[in-house]
Amino acid sequence: MKTITVSLGKRSYPICIGAGIRNSAGKFLQRFHLPRHLVIVTDTIVARLYLDDVRRSLERAGFAVFSIVIPPGESQKSLQRAGAMYTELLHHRIGRKATIVALGGGVVGDLAGFIAATYQRGVNFMQMPTTLLAQVDSSVGGKVGINHPLGKNMIGAFYQPLSVLADTEMLQSLPQRERVCGIGEVIKYGIILDKRFFEYVRKNLTNILAMEPTVVANVVARCCELKAFVVSRDEKEENMRAILNFGHTVGHALEQAGHYRSLKHGEAILLGMVAETFLASRLKMISAEDVRRIEEVVAAVPVPRSLGFSFSAAKLIETMRNDKKSVAGTVRFVLPERVGAVTLPMPVKEGAIAGALDYLEKFVKRL
Ligand code: GLY
Repeated sequence: MKTITVSLGKRSYPICIGAGIRNSAGKFLQRFHLPRHLVIVTDTIVARLYLDDVRRSLERAGFAVFSIVIPPGESQKSLQRAGAMYTELLHHRIGRKATIVALGGGVVGDLAGFIAATYQRGVNFMQMPTTLLAQVDSSVGGKVGINHPLGKNMIGAFYQPLSVLADTEMLQSLPQRERVCGIGEVIKYGIILDKRFFEYVRKNLTNILAMEPTVVANVVARCCELKAFVVSRDEKEENMRAILNFGHTVGHALEQAGHYRSLKHGEAILLGMVAETFLASRLKMISAEDVRRIEEVVAAVPVPRSLGFSFSAAKLIETMRNDKKSVAGTVRFVLPERVGAVTLPMPVKEGAIAGALDYLEKFVKRL
């Protein structure tokens, strides 16, 4: 098992990565001297595969376990679902000493974390991410929240978990589309912070897609190290943490335009990175060689060969104005300067954004 620390003073916590560690979750949690009651939040797909293993391990360690199983999908990150979950917790007299354990992908982690941050003014929270995307990105760093019809993650908090337990063996059961989504965030880490890692990912794309155990363990560990480095320096996204949003300004707008059904988060981020790299090249900030390398790696991933919807650039830009990085309605982007380094958010003229969206449409058609 590999352990990486997110350093946040008294709220520092370990990210533990290893194959099969879900079966020792109970023993692991004993280290934290938690009260007896645990609530596992998961979705129906993960429940079928892993809930029994995790519950058994927790009960063997003496915990009393209550589970909330929700349907899968981004639409669950809603005020309605959160309301139903508060009701369920109250009906079962779950008190403020309970610990909420998120067992699932990004949706479950964000939603369960939001409930943990708000139920009875906050209860303990643990993350057990089950998808590549959640293991490399969303389970680390304490961003929790739900969506609003006007924008993704518009309601939420920074609420750090007590720990993250990432069992890489669980990634073996991921469907191809989920693997692709995770690879989107993995490539992002290479572009924003680590050229060597980008090269490793580029050379090992097939192995990552196949979830080859050693390669995947290396990839999860490196992404967590990079994320822990960023979050430890800027927990609340006052400056440096914004770099984790590379590809996300366009990506979130695409996700919303497709009503969160046509494109999944990681797919939208892959395409968002292409559009935002194009912006950087138009602004003469990045070499043609690095643009080519970024585009090549995205094209080598089985991203959707069609968006599944047609978009209007004006509408997408309107959505981007609601992006959390926007200031007074001016859309700002994290732009790559080379593979391994990006800028902090910077304003870009809307004509240039429209040009990048036009380029993206053509890029997708060429795939
Ligand atoms: N996924 C971006 C962040 O955690 O800041």
